[in-house]
Amino acid sequence: METQMKLFPVLITTPIFLFYLMACTDKASESMAKSESKNFAEAIMLARNNGCLKCHQLKAPLVGPPWHAVADRYRGAEDARNFLIEKVKRGGSGNWDATTGGAQMPANSPRVSDAHIAAIVDFILSLKHGDS
Ligand code: HEC
Repeated sequence: METQMKLFPVLITTPIFLFYLMACTDKASESMAKSESKNFAEAIMLARNNGCLKCHQLKAPLVGPPWHAVADRYRGAEDARNFLIEKVKRGGSGNWDATTGGAQMPANSPRVSDAHIAAIVDFILSLKHGDS
């Protein structure tokens, strides 16, 4: 009887604690998903406002290559970030001729600021299979 009384608070509080823990974990992943989709929407808006989406889509070629294909090609490549930032600034052709038929990207700098170009390149490189 005495041990039962001693165990009572533990038996009562453990499920409450576990329930609380689960609720917190759920909230955390929910708010993480929310902030991810918010970042995604913000990046798309930035790309649209800077004119990139006149020539690019995420999953299909337009004038330029789809950004998913860009992410796939450069994933893990050393210095991809700097290379792509420079390419977007100066424009050029030759890397995606099979996709674009040889179209050229015009220089985006100085029309688009360096900070915006870097942010959009980071977004492109963050794309994974299955993002839309
Ligand atoms: C007028 C059309 C046009 C606009 C506007 C445009 N692009 Fe491009 N983009 C292209 C074309 C065409 C290519 C393919 C170039 C090549 O084959 O090397 C390209 C290629 C790219 C690549 C891949 C480069 C490589 O060598 O692999 C990235 C990244 C990119 N664009 C990002 C951007 C961003 C960011 C913007 C907006 C600031 C933008 N583009 C605006 C047409 C455009």
